[in-house]
Amino acid sequence: KTIRLADYRAPDYLIHETHLHFELYDDHALVHAHLVLERNPQLDDSLPPLVLDGVKLELKHIALDDRVLGAGEYQVDEESLRLQPEKNSFTLDTTVRIEPQNNTELEGLYRSGGMFCTQCEAEGFRKITYYLDRPDVMSSFTTTLSADKQQYPVLLSNGNKIDEGEEGERHWASWEDPHKKPAYLFALVAGDLWCVEDSFTTMSGREVTLRMFVEPQNADKCQHGMDSLKKSMRWDEEVYGREYDLDIFMIVAVDDFNMGAMENKGLNIFNSSCVLAKPENSTDAAFQRIESIVAHEYFHNWSGNRVTCRDWFQLSLKEGFTVFRDAEFSADMNSRTVKRIEDVAYLRTHQFAEDAGPLAHPVRPAEYMEISNFYTLTIYEKGAEVVRMLHTLLGAELFRKGSDLYFERHDGQAVTCDDFVAAMESVSGRDLTRFKLWYSQAGTPVLQVSDSYDAEKQEYRLQVRQNCPPTPGQPVKEPMVIPLATGLLDAVTGEEVRGTQVLELTEASQEFIFTGIASQPLPSLLRGFSAPVRLEYAYSREQLAFLLAHDSDGFNRWEAGQQLAIQVFSEALTQQQNGQTPAFDPQLAQALSKVLADTQLDEALKAEIISLPSLAYLLELQTEADVANSHVVREALRLSLAQQLEQPLREIYQQLREQARATDYRPEAGQIGRRRLQNMTLSYLMLLEQDDILAACIAQFEQADNMTERMAALANLVNNPVREQAEQALAAFEQEFAVDPLVMDQWFSVQASSPLFSDTAQIRQLMQHPAFSIKNPNKVRAVLGAFSQHNLPQFHAADGSGYALLAEQVAVLDGLNPQISARMVNPLTRWQRYQPRQQQQMRAELEKLQQLPKISRDLFEVLEKSLG
Ligand code: ARG
Ligand code: ZN
Repeated sequence: KTIRLADYRAPDYLIHETHLHFELYDDHALVHAHLVLERNPQLDDSLPPLVLDGVKLELKHIALDDRVLGAGEYQVDEESLRLQPEKNSFTLDTTVRIEPQNNTELEGLYRSGGMFCTQCEAEGFRKITYYLDRPDVMSSFTTTLSADKQQYPVLLSNGNKIDEGEEGERHWASWEDPHKKPAYLFALVAGDLWCVEDSFTTMSGREVTLRMFVEPQNADKCQHGMDSLKKSMRWDEEVYGREYDLDIFMIVAVDDFNMGAMENKGLNIFNSSCVLAKPENSTDAAFQRIESIVAHEYFHNWSGNRVTCRDWFQLSLKEGFTVFRDAEFSADMNSRTVKRIEDVAYLRTHQFAEDAGPLAHPVRPAEYMEISNFYTLTIYEKGAEVVRMLHTLLGAELFRKGSDLYFERHDGQAVTCDDFVAAMESVSGRDLTRFKLWYSQAGTPVLQVSDSYDAEKQEYRLQVRQNCPPTPGQPVKEPMVIPLATGLLDAVTGEEVRGTQVLELTEASQEFIFTGIASQPLPSLLRGFSAPVRLEYAYSREQLAFLLAHDSDGFNRWEAGQQLAIQVFSEALTQQQNGQTPAFDPQLAQALSKVLADTQLDEALKAEIISLPSLAYLLELQTEADVANSHVVREALRLSLAQQLEQPLREIYQQLREQARATDYRPEAGQIGRRRLQNMTLSYLMLLEQDDILAACIAQFEQADNMTERMAALANLVNNPVREQAEQALAAFEQEFAVDPLVMDQWFSVQASSPLFSDTAQIRQLMQHPAFSIKNPNKVRAVLGAFSQHNLPQFHAADGSGYALLAEQVAVLDGLNPQISARMVNPLTRWQRYQPRQQQQMRAELEKLQQLPKISRDLFEVLEKSLG
């Protein structure tokens, strides 16, 4: 069944108060709900039937206004409870029995390890009790939980604890949330948890208690999450004027979690991989991910909770805005340019692919079958780009005014993307109607730019044409509003003759004229990636090398290097495909050698510039992706760069490794950049297969005091042709870290990602490992996710065995956890991108999955769309 935005109707009934009582036992839970309801006063005064959502609930008791209902007075089916109210205002009491211990979907109330926890967004609350499970029904909540004292000493829910007590072996606690909220923000936790406490004084001088709850063995992995939380709270006050609004803020870490984390009011629940870290066990990447996800969830307190979504079509209202906010936070805490580079590389590799495939959808989708399938790169990352474009078009000051107005106007409301844009219109006086096409049109626009120079008139002209390819259900697109940030460089000196100017595209074809330009300039286009588009301008390799050396925009320096590498790669790929030996234009190595020698550039940016575009991105750019040849050519290009740059790479590596050895590890931007460059140089040098380099790599693996250096060394050993060394290192590592599931995830993933080390047989072996569990999403992602997304040569093995393995496991997963099966199947849905034989193999696997005797709605929707 398809749900459509056009069919939105306000709720027939409102729930003013929600009083919940959970009795938690090892083999079941009883949920008593007391709801205070009212006929929606905005609608007429008829009394339509009340239809509550409820899935997998066993109804034990039901009373309307304290009168127990007879069997004929209500109807229950697979997804709902229906009854006929007799008054405008009434109360409803229900008791249901559920089995959290058997909930493998990790949605609703479930067990993770020894604790109870919840995940309600988007529609998990209906698996807990009968309710109007939609975000525009906002209610005040009180929650009482009772459980065994010994096993579950900690009992948590949203808001403030108002009471607690004991009864024999059991105890209970009551919580009250003073803010009205939709059910998707409800949470409870019960467990034997360690608590790390801190506090934060808000800008108005209120003291907020901060608590992190973790399993006792993780007590030493909380500091970074706590620091990140305090930084986020300060930043949201300074940059957005947003203050926290409860006396307590809690974070709980759980091992079994479908996504990264969840912004439940006052009680955020995190995948432990997104909040727990210590230097000896966690990489720089993990530290940075934690900083940004803690911020993301915290920022939702305003962009999501205080102002929430009217319906799930508006998901990007909170997600796009909040991703934009967390990206700006991370940019302020670290290197702005590097953060932008990382985000753009991610967007272009994965979101552009989504936009070009069968699952393409607008930032505000018009329809869906299963909302869980729409927690996508388009909603999150492209949604954030849309907000960023508003920021660019309005400027920082007006944008801030707009966000202030949005929060003020809609505090306590459930609203739409139109309301967000309307606030931006109000403060700027601009008409953003046309801009809103970004919310309704799917697909990635292509900009074709050409230019001309008139020496006599001293005039430089840029001609820009835009078009957007068709996507499913949207054959024709209208031109969009696109901010094109542009600078002009003197083509001889590299001096900037025009600083960054935001050109606003609104038409299919436009011309921009720059006057008073003394000589033919070189344009620096789409600076900072000012819009999520594909840019086409016929730069020569010389021009790209020139931009890489001179552009004042750090992002575009990197971009020029990437474009140069893509050109050099593409030429060699064609040679390879024609049976010739690929030859690489030395201009790339020359340009990179200048970068390595540049004393003005920081290490982080150097590391980004010398990284070749990922194989996944290089494939994304091809009309018919040639995985095997692209992999061979990319590796050959890396080797050729390593050979040409050996001396500077060796010097940099030695110097940085020495420096790392002499410094105490801290996960701060400067050090992170140096380690990244160190490990990048090491991975080039390892391609040379020289004994002293191998020895240095092993020494780094054995001696480094932090996981960033150790993991990089391990990855290099695993990607090295000598299997024996890899196996030794893996065994030593396993022995050391067997007790830490998060480190074992890295151990799994470094193997599963390596084309040299892991074919399908090896992947099957990893899945037999005692630390693997198909029920734990982190493990599934570490093995099957890494295999299908990072080990492309093996996943696309000619015999189709990689596809078969993934499909077979998706089938198993679908019986356990549909959100995960529908996600893991994704690499197969891109079948149209590959060569005919591969297409056939991939399709065959998808068709087999369609024949599953029992298939989830999640997987069904993805299969149907991808098979067309
Ligand atoms: N709102 C959460 C976040 O972005 C994600 C929740 C995802 N839930 C889901 N069922 N897909 O922080
Ligand atoms: Zn979010």
